[in-house]
Amino acid sequence: MPNDAAALTHHLAHYGIVPCASLTHWQARWNAVDAALRAALDATRQPGATRAPTTAEQLRFYGALAVPQVAGVMYSRQANTLHAIGSAVAALVAGRQQLLDLGCNIGHLTSWYAASGAVRSATGIDFVPQCIASARALAQAASGTLKFVDGDITQALPAGTFDAITDTHTLSTLPNAAPALALVRNALQRDGIFVSVVAHGSAATTAEFAATLAAAGLHVHKLQFVYGTDLGQTAAHPLLLAAVAQPGTRVDIAGGFAAARLPGA
Ligand SMILES: C[S@@+](CC[C@H](N)C(=O)[O-])C[C@H]1O[C@@H](n2cnc3c(N)ncnc32)[C@H](O)[C@@H]1O
Repeated sequence: MPNDAAALTHHLAHYGIVPCASLTHWQARWNAVDAALRAALDATRQPGATRAPTTAEQLRFYGALAVPQVAGVMYSRQANTLHAIGSAVAALVAGRQQLLDLGCNIGHLTSWYAASGAVRSATGIDFVPQCIASARALAQAASGTLKFVDGDITQALPAGTFDAITDTHTLSTLPNAAPALALVRNALQRDGIFVSVVAHGSAATTAEFAATLAAAGLHVHKLQFVYGTDLGQTAAHPLLLAAVAQPGTRVDIAGGFAAARLPGA
């Protein structure tokens, strides 16, 4: 299956991830989900919380979300964004042999990197056992090999080394990314690349995250933006490509944001 738009749309639809034209359309889909499953997810939410969720709260939330019927509808809120990210990351890792995807959830993107033929094998890791169970159950016959591992990326990564490590909206949300980045640095082959899509990244938080990468020995070579329009809103997601070797020129994060003319800026 090539890394093209139609194939990726089909791939995400297998996970129930289908764009919604409006919030009303999305709400109708959510209301059609089994009431007990909706209630189980709603019970994990912290209305009005002004702090980052604890690990226990995350395990509960993602555990309830991992039911394929629930995950498909929840991820449909950002279906076009996930499509844009899947396409951009697959293009960057194309030709690599062993990919590791951090915080893979139900495996919708991990499996795409293998199914699209971008990489020879892909391994997804997540610390929510229900996510890993769903990822294994949903995995389609990928052209490459595909594996899902239950584990905490701040404690240990799957055995072996990788020439591509990817992360969508996970490392940048950790209260302290340094322990996971040290593990990434060790697991990355000398000529490997680390591709990270930053969550809620402003110029300042992205620059701070890039500095945390550099402190771990992962030097940013490239900044690009992945644009997604979902439920009538366009957002730009900063994507950093880092490698162990220092680049000849430093990437100017603040300048990159200023030049990108981001939606809403
Ligand atoms: C925002 S979701 C992103 C899912 C997927 N990468 C995507 O972009 O669609 C973050 C995922 O990271 C996982 N996660 C968070 N902290 C983790 C940790 N310390 N170890 C392993 N997985 C973690 C969560 O369980 C969740 O599935």
